[in-house]
Amino acid sequence: MIEENTDMMISEEDLSSYKAWLQYKQITNEPLKATYLKMLKSIHIVSNSNIVDSAVKELLLGIEAMLGRRPTIEKSPAEATIILETITDIEVDDRDRFSQVGEDGFEIIVHHNFSEKTQIFLAGQSEKGVLYAVFSLLRSLQLHRPVDRWATIETPKNRLRMINQWDNIDGTIERGYAGCSIFFKDNTFRENIQRIKDYARLLASVGINAISINNVNVWDIETNLITREYLPKVRQVSDIFNRYGISMFLSINYASPITMGELDTADPLDKRVKVWWEEKVRDIYRYIPNFGGFVVKADSEGRSGPFSYNRDHADGANMLAQVLKPFNGIVVWRCFVYNHLQDWRDRQTDRARAAYDHFKPIDGKFLDNVILQIKNGPMDFQVREPISPLLGGLKETNYMLELQITQEYTGQQIDLCYLIPQWKEILNFDTHAKGEGTKIKDIVNGDVFGNRLGGIAAVSNIGDNMNWTGHTLAQANLYGFGRLTWDPDLSTEEITQEWVNLTFGHNSQVVENIQAILLKSWLVYENYSSPLGIGWMVNPNHHYGPNIDGYEYSKWGTYHYADRDGIGVDRTVDTGTGYAGQYFSPNAEIYNNLEKCPDELLLFFQHVSYRHVLQSGKTVIQHIYDTHFDGVEQVKGFIDNWCKLEGEIDQTIFNNVRERLQLQLQNAIEWRDQVNTYFYRKSGISDQHNRMIY
Ligand code: GCU
Repeated sequence: MIEENTDMMISEEDLSSYKAWLQYKQITNEPLKATYLKMLKSIHIVSNSNIVDSAVKELLLGIEAMLGRRPTIEKSPAEATIILETITDIEVDDRDRFSQVGEDGFEIIVHHNFSEKTQIFLAGQSEKGVLYAVFSLLRSLQLHRPVDRWATIETPKNRLRMINQWDNIDGTIERGYAGCSIFFKDNTFRENIQRIKDYARLLASVGINAISINNVNVWDIETNLITREYLPKVRQVSDIFNRYGISMFLSINYASPITMGELDTADPLDKRVKVWWEEKVRDIYRYIPNFGGFVVKADSEGRSGPFSYNRDHADGANMLAQVLKPFNGIVVWRCFVYNHLQDWRDRQTDRARAAYDHFKPIDGKFLDNVILQIKNGPMDFQVREPISPLLGGLKETNYMLELQITQEYTGQQIDLCYLIPQWKEILNFDTHAKGEGTKIKDIVNGDVFGNRLGGIAAVSNIGDNMNWTGHTLAQANLYGFGRLTWDPDLSTEEITQEWVNLTFGHNSQVVENIQAILLKSWLVYENYSSPLGIGWMVNPNHHYGPNIDGYEYSKWGTYHYADRDGIGVDRTVDTGTGYAGQYFSPNAEIYNNLEKCPDELLLFFQHVSYRHVLQSGKTVIQHIYDTHFDGVEQVKGFIDNWCKLEGEIDQTIFNNVRERLQLQLQNAIEWRDQVNTYFYRKSGISDQHNRMIY
C-alpha cells in the first residue's frame, strides 16, 4: 500500500534544487513587501473542492514563505482581500464583471473600490482554472510584479497538455537521466508519495493537465497495471494528480489479452477481444471514475499491434476508443511506426517517410475520441530535424504533437541543451497546409482543421534525483514545456527570464549570465554533434557520445551515407526517396532544391559533395570543421561564465552544474575530434585554418 509519508528527508543542501521553480523565496524589498502584505491579508473561498483545496494550500504556502505572514481564511467575502471563485459560483447578473474564458481558463481582477480597499478576484472557468489562477498570482509575486500587473485573462491554447513518463515498474526509466522512477520500485509502487505530490504541484503550476505514468514500451508486469491487482495503487496515484487537475492515463500493451494468457488473439476486429477490453475498462473506471484513457505504442519497434492481424491502425485504435467512449476516455495513439528491421543495403526504404505513408491514407477513419500523437520530426528527437509532414498533412483526424523533454539525443542531462528555442521553431513552422501562415502551433491545438481534440505531449525528464532532472538547469526544459503548451506564443526570452527569476531570484548578473548560457546551449550542442541536420552518429543503444558509423550499417534506417566524395541522404523527389514530396508547396520545392534547402537541414534532404558551398558561403567540410572547433570553445565559455556565479547562487546547484559542464566539455572534445577526424580521413580535405585534426 502507498502510505502518506511526509517524512521524506530533504537535506538543507538539496532543498533549493528540489523546490525547482516553486522557491517562494522571502521578499526582502521592504516597500514591495509592504504593498504585497496589504493586498494578501486574507482569503475567501466561495466553494470548496479537492482542486480548490490544493489551490488554497499552495496560496497559503507561497504567501507565508514570501511575506512571512499567513493569510487568514475569511467567511465573508467583504472581509477578504483575495476571493477564490469559479465562474459558476458567481451570480449570473454579476458575471459581466468577468471576461469570457475558455476551458481551464481564468481571470484575475484587481479591484480597487471606493472604500480604498483593494480586492483580488481569482476566478476560474472551473476549479482547475482557480488552481491555475493561484499559480499565476504566485508567479507574479515571485517575479516581483507590481499589483496592477497581476491582472490577467488566460485560456490555455492547448486542450491536452500532457506528460508521458517512460517509467518501468522495476524502477528504471527508459531514456531517464535523473535517477530512478518516483512512481515504481522493485516491481511495485513506491511508498513515498511526497515526491509524486510535489511533482503534481510542479506540473500544475505550469498548466499540465494529463499524465501517463508508465513507459510506452509496456513489458509483461506493466501489462497488469490495468488489472485489479494494481488498480487500487494506480488509483492512489491518480488521486494525487487529480487534486492538481491532472488526469491519469496508462500506457497499455496492445497484446494484453494474449500476454495475460486469457485469449489467443488481440485482433481488434475479433469480438472476443473487444469484450475482453470492455471488462478491463469497466474495472478501471470502477476504481478511477475520471480515468483519462490509454496511450498506445503499437506496431512500433517490436511492440504488437493491428498489423499482426492485417488490420490498419484505425481498426486498432477505434476498437479501444469504442470501449472507452461510454466513460469519456480517450485513446492516445502514437504514430511512431516504421520498419526497424531495415537492411542498410536497401536504399529505397526511407524511415523518414514511414509515419506519413502509414497514417495519411487513413486520415478521417479514426473515431472522435482517438487522438494521434505525432513526434515533431520524422525520425526521432534529433538535435535538428525537419518537421514531420504528418503535422498539417492530416486534416480529418484529431492529433497532437509529441516532444521529448528528456535529452535522449541532446546530451542526456549531462550536457546542457535548453530546448525551448527548438520547440519554438517547431511550433512556428509554417506548413502551408491551408495556405501561408498555417503554423504547427495552430494545427496541433485543433484550430486549423477544427479537430475536437488537440494538444502537446512530451516525454518527461524527471527521476528521483533530489534536483529532479539530474542537471539542475534541465529543470528549465520541463518548465518551458509547460509554459509553451499553455501558450505557444510566449517568447523564448520571456519563458527563460521567468524560469531564471523563479529559480535563482533577481540578481541581474546571475540572471543575465544564466539566460545567456541557456539561450545558446542548443546551438552549441548542435555545433559539436552531428552536422547539418543529418542526425544520429551516436553510440548505439544508449545514444550518448559520438560514433559516426554507430548506426551506419544497422537495421534502424538511420544512415548518413558518407563516402570519400560527400555525405547526406537524397530525399528529393527526382532522384531520392521522395520524402521531400510529403510537404506542401513551397516547402516541398525548397527541400527538393539544392540551392534553396536551408543549410541546417541540407544533409537531411540532399546528398552533397564535401566541397558544396552552403548558403553561408562555407563549404560543407569547412562548416563541419568550424562548428566542431567552435562548439568546444563555446562550452569552455559556458564554464568560465558559470564559474563567475560561485557564491552568488545556491552552492549545491552551482556544484552540480559545474560538474556537468566539465563532463560536457569532455564530451564535446570527443565529438569534435571524432567527427573532424572521420571527415578529414574520408575526404582528404584539410582544414583551412590548419587546426589539430587526428
Ligand atoms: C526512441 C527511443 C526509445 C523509445 C522510442 C519511442 O526510439 O530510443 O527508447 O521507446 O523512441 O518513442 O517509442
